[in-house]
Amino acid sequence: MATSTSTQPRDTWGSKLGFVMAAAGSAVGLGNIWKFPYTAGESGGGAFVAIYLVFVIFIGFSVMLTEFAIGRKTGLSAVGAFKSTDRRWTFTGVMGVVSGLLIMGFYPVVGGWALAYIFKVGGGLLSAPSAIGDSFGGFISDPIQPIMWMGIYLLMNVVIVMRGVSGGIEKAGKVLMPLLFVILIIVSVKGLSLPGASAGLKFLFTPDFSKVDSSVVLAALGQAFFSLSLGMGCMMTYGSYLKKKENLVQTTGMVTAMDTGVAILAGIAMFPAMFAFGMEPAAGPGLVFVVVPQLFAEMGGAIGILLALLFFIGLTVAALTSSVSLLEVVVSYLIDEKGMKRSTAVLSASAVMSVLCVFASLSLGGIGPTLFGTGAFDIFDLLTDKIFLAVGGMLVCIFAGWRLSKADLEKEITNNGEVPFPLFGLWYNLVKYIIPVAIAIVAIMGIKSGFDSGKGAIMLLGIGIIAIAGLFSKKF
Ligand code: PHE
Repeated sequence: MATSTSTQPRDTWGSKLGFVMAAAGSAVGLGNIWKFPYTAGESGGGAFVAIYLVFVIFIGFSVMLTEFAIGRKTGLSAVGAFKSTDRRWTFTGVMGVVSGLLIMGFYPVVGGWALAYIFKVGGGLLSAPSAIGDSFGGFISDPIQPIMWMGIYLLMNVVIVMRGVSGGIEKAGKVLMPLLFVILIIVSVKGLSLPGASAGLKFLFTPDFSKVDSSVVLAALGQAFFSLSLGMGCMMTYGSYLKKKENLVQTTGMVTAMDTGVAILAGIAMFPAMFAFGMEPAAGPGLVFVVVPQLFAEMGGAIGILLALLFFIGLTVAALTSSVSLLEVVVSYLIDEKGMKRSTAVLSASAVMSVLCVFASLSLGGIGPTLFGTGAFDIFDLLTDKIFLAVGGMLVCIFAGWRLSKADLEKEITNNGEVPFPLFGLWYNLVKYIIPVAIAIVAIMGIKSGFDSGKGAIMLLGIGIIAIAGLFSKKF
């Protein structure tokens, strides 16, 4: 089962719910609960959220549907899907694999923090609420501890992905996603009950567009792609395991809605509490690790500790169901294209990832090499979130709109006319014309304004890497 190569029949998802939950499991992760709140906080709140929602609905939904359709039509993972149609496009899949590697160069570091916090909460973190902020700062800049946790976290990924698609990923997603949702609702209710909490809701939902510049727009676009697991062949790979009779449009709608719901819920869980505690909304990557424990400390007693434990268990599981999908992109490439055994593929991919993660983790303590004054953690994040995913999504749309036939796409999406999709024409025009142009504009403006904050050079480097990959496309 686990060793599906392109010549053997492909492993498929055990049930429809299983697929939706696994795809939602990939989408819902640190992107929603860790990254979305702090990016919204740093980007001024309401206006960022409004732009993000527009991107999710018009770009995210359409790109996800495109990825599912291409994946299922070809039955191949990212690289093979492009290669089998036109070798000049192979680089788009290869860039997806590179994105997977780079995201896995920092994601397990944060996954490790979540894992560590289960034990920190168990070890009495909540008993000194005023020290929670400093303890986080001290922890992530430590050269040894976070690397240890990252290692354990990465190992959990290795074990799950070794067992193959329907064995590991599906089961984990089905049981643990609903649990996380319930915990987030409890956290939100608690946060909203604090005095002064309403300022947080106002911050999150009242757009002030005067604060918006092109870097905020690019951040919202990147966040939409990152959170929905798009632009790197992940949903394409998942789609390749999808049965021919499933309804792609409905599945896309469900996954998009769940992902966005969890992100908004995470915002509601965090911002009211932050404002009530008088904390800065632009607190940065530590947000969830500082606000949530404080909130539970506020509750006091055994209930506070129990809920905090459940929260960090939920966060770790949400992170796991996402990172296994990232690892799977790299692994299925090595299996399908390089003919590796699943176990060899998993071990070699995770070995590279662990090295990248060590650099990423050390960079937070100011150790290790920098590029244009930026450390490894931020480089991997910038390259993928701001450039590779959005440009990857743009390329997927251009590929579908200009290289595949409209009739074939319609057949794939409507299951040969069996499921109606009245908006097909709208979707097709979005994918063929509007989305590529929109992404190009947002990326160009965003990179330009990135130069003001010293990040432009790295983003430009990202574009250069894609261009070079494009030139050598036929060699991959
Ligand atoms: N969507 C995941 C999250 O929000 C991250 C991810 C990005 C997973 C890209 C797969 C591909 O945490």
